[in-house]
Amino acid sequence: MHTAVLGIQWGDEGKGKIIDYLASSHDVIVRCQGGNNAGHTVVVNGERYPFHLLPSAILHKNKTCVLGNGMVIDPEVLLKELNNLKEKKIESANLFISNKAHIITQQHIEQDQANGKSIGTTGRGIGPAYASKITRTGLRFKEFIKQNPYHELNFIFNNVIDTSLLLQKNLDQDKKILFEGAQATMLDIDHGTYPFVTSSNCSIGGIFSGSGIFVNDINVIGVSKAYTTRVGSGPFPTELLDDMGEEIREKGHEFGTTTGRPRRCGWLDTVVLRYSKRINGLSALSIMKLDILSGLKEIKICDSYLNDTTLVTEFPPSIEELENLKANYITLPSWEEDITACKNFEELPKNAQDFITKIEYLVGIPVKYIGVGPDRTQLIVKP
Ligand code: GDP
Ligand code: IMO
Ligand code: MG
Repeated sequence: MHTAVLGIQWGDEGKGKIIDYLASSHDVIVRCQGGNNAGHTVVVNGERYPFHLLPSAILHKNKTCVLGNGMVIDPEVLLKELNNLKEKKIESANLFISNKAHIITQQHIEQDQANGKSIGTTGRGIGPAYASKITRTGLRFKEFIKQNPYHELNFIFNNVIDTSLLLQKNLDQDKKILFEGAQATMLDIDHGTYPFVTSSNCSIGGIFSGSGIFVNDINVIGVSKAYTTRVGSGPFPTELLDDMGEEIREKGHEFGTTTGRPRRCGWLDTVVLRYSKRINGLSALSIMKLDILSGLKEIKICDSYLNDTTLVTEFPPSIEELENLKANYITLPSWEEDITACKNFEELPKNAQDFITKIEYLVGIPVKYIGVGPDRTQLIVKP
């Protein structure tokens, strides 16, 4: 089986950590969309590795990593991330870059910084680079090489290839592919809270168009926090603007990996999770940062929205409709225990187990992974 890992809220769910974990049981790890608007964190033995462009499996030296054709790549950022690995003397995975991936130019970055404020973009040139691609005026990696043969990145130019074909050859040899999603369903250009979204398809469709291969034997893992966060502007039905929101932000260190901005925090929204399940055909959930809820005085889960007195159970298709809705909550008892050393589901306090079981019931799919701390090892795998 191949695996896709997708964010199913508004990003930063902990995808990097799950990718790093799953990398050991796969052969090729491919990023398919987005660029360095992403910030994926891997923590190994207490050391933090934030990756923006490189796949989160890059620390696995015997694996193959791919930056797929659906990505937009800032060559300076790529150079910096590769140099970081060199400086730390890390023997990394073999990296290949699609010759069809588009380049983010300085002009794209300037445009984004001038015009992206109302959306609260990361200012990395993502939207303008995709705009150039769609209007057929973009610069692809292959042409970039032709124009800049002596660029500092040229040590990797031989690895700029037809990655679709490379992936196909791996499939032909029964190798296992891990698709690394960036951003999340609610930031998807088609299915997210438009216009407060990014400029790529970060749901399931994007992994096939963005890698140039198709597989049908695939597990689709949806990654969610045990609560919700969002950076940038746009609707957020379960946002907490009170002390509880502040407490979660502090405990969860909810400040952006890419821009350092404080993340908006709120309760888990299972209307969003059910919507993401439908859009992506999710097989299972990965619930991260459960440890952050330890010690809160109560825990809430949004199971539906209310339009006055009418119950709404489907995520609405426009932000105008969303504005009239209020989150409807169920309240669950919390737990005091520190769970960061728990190794299996049975070791979790009863109330933490019940919280996970409630999510499974409300979303209608199993929870397969539970994050109990940032480190690679702080992960419960549910049988
Ligand atoms: P991504 O963009 O989805 O890869 O997520 P980010 O790396 O932007 O943000 C997730 C943050 O939570 C990072 O700082 C991770 O190290 C951290 N993290 C991931 N899983 C857990 C967990 O289970 N518990 C705690 N406390 N932190 C986690
Ligand atoms: P990862 O992969 C969280 C948000 C920005 C902004 C909107 C558009 O780490 O989960 P863009 O620069 O893409 O045009 O910004 O999307 N955004 C993210 N938020 N995590 C991300 O990536 C994000 N990538 C973009 O904050 O609201
Ligand atoms: Mg992130």
